Amino acid sequence: MDELDFSTLAVHAGEEPDPETGAMRLPIDMATTFKLPPFGPKLIDALLMESPRPPHAYTRWSNPGLRALEERLVALETAGLSRLKKVDAVVTASGMAAVSALLFTLLGKGDHVVASEVCYAGSVELFGLHLPRFGIEVSLVDTSDAEQVRSAMRPNTRLVYAETPANPILRISDIAALAGIAHAAGVPLAVDSTWASPALQQPLALGADFVIHSLTKYINGHGDALGGVVIGPQKEIQRIRKEMLVHLGGALSPFNAWLILRGAVTLPLRMRQHSESALQVAQFLEGHPKVAHVVYPGLESHPHHALAARQMSAFSGMLTFQLKGGLGTAISLSEKIRVFHYATSLGHAHSLLFYYPTDMYVDAATYLSSAQKAGIREWVGDGIVRVSVGLEAPGDLIRDLDQALRGRSVRGVVGPLAYRLLKG
Ligand SMILES: Cc1ncc(COP(=O)(O)O)c(C=O)c1O
Repeated sequence: MDELDFSTLAVHAGEEPDPETGAMRLPIDMATTFKLPPFGPKLIDALLMESPRPPHAYTRWSNPGLRALEERLVALETAGLSRLKKVDAVVTASGMAAVSALLFTLLGKGDHVVASEVCYAGSVELFGLHLPRFGIEVSLVDTSDAEQVRSAMRPNTRLVYAETPANPILRISDIAALAGIAHAAGVPLAVDSTWASPALQQPLALGADFVIHSLTKYINGHGDALGGVVIGPQKEIQRIRKEMLVHLGGALSPFNAWLILRGAVTLPLRMRQHSESALQVAQFLEGHPKVAHVVYPGLESHPHHALAARQMSAFSGMLTFQLKGGLGTAISLSEKIRVFHYATSLGHAHSLLFYYPTDMYVDAATYLSSAQKAGIREWVGDGIVRVSVGLEAPGDLIRDLDQALRGRSVRGVVGPLAYRLLKG
């Protein structure tokens, strides 16, 4: 399937019509257990996972639907990169299960990891709060500044980890530069590429060794299934399957795998539309009197626009903006939107919007220094409205934001007072 285009792979990779029934969609094998051949040394080897394709014995380590999804994700992540050999994937119960599976496979007591100081809150808390509990040293740095990564490297560094674009503030890290730094030290680079999806960014082509996605977001695209994946060298993926799925247990449900496999079919079409609509929404917001500042990698005003244009084929559907009226306007915005939904998560057909007061966001990051917090404050300003632009008509989205930004509700005025009282 090497020479097929990304869009064709999104439809076909991993799925064939059923040889018996001719069914064009893969059936869902909602079975935990599979009948095995009679006892023998070969079977023992297989069950001990001496091969990258373990038999379907128990769904925690293999199931036909999970295998099909893994094949499709490898095909998408390596589309057009036939020089990449022996890349495999392991799907997990959620994006966080993928992040933790990778970290706990590659890192142990006494090791050191350099990671993005701004990434999905669950990941940054895993780095900041939990890895140190297991004796793993962590340096959280601004990975969009390659020099910070270079100077954080230590003799015991075992991994460089970056999320780009970074959730929620859309910093962009230079994957090729980070791969150069990691490889000079003889360690792998892992990239959480969830916000771009393989349709817009291929970290492996830029030198990364591992790619992580929350499948919950763009790859599924319909907001109805959690899932995650780690893609990387076959040997390490085999280790993750054995040590993290079999021993720790974060396996994906076959039903979710089926939904995600179906969602992935339209990934290239959806990403094109998300990107086009987000650019229109970002441009509209940039000129809006109630908006102080917009962060979208597709805007020339984004400090990393040139890098994003180089390493991504489009800019995806995520943006943040800062309101002139602060918390009061944010509360009223959340109340008045009609097409957008006030909700967390992203990458769905539905447009979603979520507000983080900057103080709340940086105060929660107890593992960051005050200089790091000041840098984040300077980048985002006062209050982060995070927007996931969906697949509705961009004109409707723009009109919805416009009507919601104009006028203030009573709750929008009372809200900030209540918030201040709550905070004491
Ligand atoms: C970049 C990124 N990585 C990982 C995750 C975690 O994914 P999940 O919710 O599937 O565990 C998220 C969730 O928002 C995310 O945005």
